[in-house]
Amino acid sequence: MPGHGLLALAVLAPVLGLCISILVFQGLTGVPPMSSNATEAVDVITLLRQAALAEGAVIYELGSGWGSLAVALAQAFPQAKVRGIEISPFPYWVSRLRGRGVANLSLRRRNYFDCDLSDAQAVTCYLMIRSMPRLAALLDRMLEPGTPVVTLSFWFRDREVAASRASSGLLGATALYYWPAPKTAARLAPDSGHR
Ligand SMILES: C[S@@+](CC[C@H](N)C(=O)[O-])C[C@H]1O[C@@H](n2cnc3c(N)ncnc32)[C@H](O)[C@@H]1O
Repeated sequence: MPGHGLLALAVLAPVLGLCISILVFQGLTGVPPMSSNATEAVDVITLLRQAALAEGAVIYELGSGWGSLAVALAQAFPQAKVRGIEISPFPYWVSRLRGRGVANLSLRRRNYFDCDLSDAQAVTCYLMIRSMPRLAALLDRMLEPGTPVVTLSFWFRDREVAASRASSGLLGATALYYWPAPKTAARLAPDSGHR
């Protein structure tokens, strides 16, 4: 029946559009919008606590996806200002819904390479191995020396890890760096083998 066909189209078209948008942005960034889970968020939070953030610290969650980690950070650090940046529209809008009412969380739909991160007092991210070298160069330009950076699962190969949490979730281990965390020449080779 034509009425049913139109109804099905009205339901399916937006769903298809959202799926296509996820694939397009995943293609652009090379990073799928996978969420960290609660256990992994605890690993990130534990390492940030170790970094003893100042009251009112600004924490950037780069590639905040559906908002899981951003919301968990905002709740764990009520005195901090958590700023999530996500490029992909569908995860971003879902994160906006999830973050409603979380006063110390702000979310922006942007490419983090186009953002000024110079007020960061901490950075977190869960991206992909191929994202890390370009992100390192961005952090080199943006961050004050000593800024804590916590990466979930994918590490910076050529930087010195200050502390880590062995994988308690499904993903790889979580690492804390005090940026720019240079490795000494002796430690640069051979590669540590971390992802
Ligand atoms: C694996 S998800 C992690 C989501 C979230 N951090 C979490 O732990 O639940 C990575 C997200 O980073 C986003 N992303 C990748 N490159 C980006 C960029 N240059 N600017 C903004 N977001 C980006 C992707 O769209 C994806 O949603």
